[in-house]
Amino acid sequence: MKIHIKGGRIVDPVSGMDEERDILVVNGIIERISSRPSVDGSYQTVDMKGNIIVPGLLDMHVHLREPGYEHKETIETGCESAREGGFTAVCCMPNTNPAIDDESVARYVRQKGQQVCDGIVEVYPIAAATKGRLGEELSPMAELAGAGAVGYSDDGSPIASAEIMRRVLEYSSMFGIPVIQHAEEPTMTMGGCINEGFVSTKSGLPGIPPVAEELMVARDLILLRYIPAAKYHVAHISTASAIELVRRAKADGLQATAEATPHHFTLTDDVTASFDTNTKMNPPLRTADDVEAVRQALKDGTIDAIATDHAPHTIDEKEVEYIEAPFGIVGLETAIGLTMTELVETGLLALDEAIAKLSTNPRRIVGLPAIKFTQGEPANMTFIDPRAKWTVDVQRFKSKSKNSPFHGRVLTGKAIGVLNNGKMYIAGV
Ligand code: DOR
Repeated sequence: MKIHIKGGRIVDPVSGMDEERDILVVNGIIERISSRPSVDGSYQTVDMKGNIIVPGLLDMHVHLREPGYEHKETIETGCESAREGGFTAVCCMPNTNPAIDDESVARYVRQKGQQVCDGIVEVYPIAAATKGRLGEELSPMAELAGAGAVGYSDDGSPIASAEIMRRVLEYSSMFGIPVIQHAEEPTMTMGGCINEGFVSTKSGLPGIPPVAEELMVARDLILLRYIPAAKYHVAHISTASAIELVRRAKADGLQATAEATPHHFTLTDDVTASFDTNTKMNPPLRTADDVEAVRQALKDGTIDAIATDHAPHTIDEKEVEYIEAPFGIVGLETAIGLTMTELVETGLLALDEAIAKLSTNPRRIVGLPAIKFTQGEPANMTFIDPRAKWTVDVQRFKSKSKNSPFHGRVLTGKAIGVLNNGKMYIAGV
């Protein structure tokens, strides 16, 4: 297949390129990048004038729900959602049933990913750190690394035992694979459903104290000082205090990284007063000061990556009393719009900084090679219309689930397509 991508603005955080260029792709490989190349009729031409071309995006934190919870999402619908949202790769969390805690489940997830959506979206499993995600016994970490796992996590639950966490960090360092912590001190958060503070006091909903996140990150960073060969990553960081700990750890040279979700840089716990269960997620939405801390940490590099924590749940599961509803919202199809609207349009991040958080940095964290806009390299890219003004409509989501608090919100910036593994997808075509 020969493709001529015409007239787009290439924004590449790796090389620093920010120029309008044409790209010729032959059988999935970049043949040439130049201004107005002469092209014969054998190429399919795609006009990207006015659009941005960036390295293919990676969402390093999604829940694809397969195996076990296919009524919420499947690997196929999750990849369709990712592709629509402009992602050419996702890392999927192990809280499936069975958990991704043995080689066969990890291989199943990898292979299924290759079979859906023309293989355009690469699926990289995050393996459970402990068997059954129970926090008691280590998973077969070497075997899981061999089966393609790119991280270890008990996400959805923290690795609560300090002794188990110590061993997980030690063994993970043998494979150079990061440990991704869902950071909460569980004895403090049990039964909670929104941030503990003014809003929870007013509504009477049980609170999740911010200090529970801070405590777990503090403990883990102390362990990391003992095991500096390990790589430690904080999932969906949400509190100013935990962010400050990561900032100091980085300054001290530890291999600590962090991600934030679009909802944690956009919404405060004020919206939970609606009792809309689509505002319930874990970690919960926090205060305006926390949102500001997340934004500043994205700016100063303390937070390396933007990841959605795409957590599909059915309408029936969410249409219950707030306290009973499962935690989580879908995020793949609103990530670019929220990033562009909240971070780029506001002037907080330059476009290439935002793209680095959605592509270059998460790839580095999970050990995937950098995507290069260079002749002879695999073509792996995302097309974005930076000016598209659109209204989020959950009914149009490709995801099987519709649980988003952003329904009806007007966003600027939208993914219009992806190209990867020799296949191209343009939304709406
Ligand atoms: O909101 C969340 N939903 N947070 C998690 O950590 C897990 C996730 C899920 O699996 O639904």
